[in-house]
Amino acid sequence: MIELITATEAHLPEIKRIAYETWPATFGAILSEKQIAYMLDWMYSIPSLTSQITEKKHVFLLAKDSEQFLGYASYELNYTGVPKTKIHKIYLLPASQGKGVGALLINRIGEIAAENENNALLLNVNRYNKAVGFYEKMGFSVVGNEDIDIGDGFLMEDFIMEKPL
Ligand SMILES: CC(C)(COP(=O)(O)OP(=O)(O)OC[C@H]1O[C@@H](n2cnc3c(N)ncnc32)[C@H](O)[C@@H]1OP(=O)(O)O)[C@@H](O)C(=O)NCCC(=O)NCCS
Repeated sequence: MIELITATEAHLPEIKRIAYETWPATFGAILSEKQIAYMLDWMYSIPSLTSQITEKKHVFLLAKDSEQFLGYASYELNYTGVPKTKIHKIYLLPASQGKGVGALLINRIGEIAAENENNALLLNVNRYNKAVGFYEKMGFSVVGNEDIDIGDGFLMEDFIMEKPL
């Protein structure tokens, strides 16, 4: 039985641990080790995660089975003041991928978004990440490209994908 719970500040070290275990496997063939380290530090330090949930109104859902946390997703309702929900993050431990947990998280966020009168889910994904295929399977399509300069000479090369609700 997989349970989805809303994370509190007490769960932030767990989220950080899962990110550090998942990112090298996800991005090892796409980004340099330096860029992975830079991005992890930027997005997953405890102060950064704390500010995401307290100031930026990101909500983290954690997936857990009877024994352990398997991964997380974060979302933001009414992103940039329009009735769309942005999925900022979705990461499952390598051993927990391909078992339907990602679909469970996306579907739950879709339900929460609809309950809050949002009419679409929105996300950015690296153009070379095979997760693009997962999102297409979940009903998203590419609506744009975005190259984002994140400092220190690093670039994020993303697709913007959207799923109408
Ligand atoms: C991307 C991720 C969240 C998907 O979650 P998951 O639990 O592995 O995916 P699911 O098992 O729920 O798959 C749901 C459906 O998508 C399909 N799917 C999964 N990955 C796919 C892929 N790369 N290409 C095409 N279809 C895919 C599955 O076959 C399944 O289809 P089905 O319903 O017909 O069986 C997960 O694999 C992950 O954490 N990957 C590493 C981190 C990452 O890349 N995150 C995204 C950053 S933007």
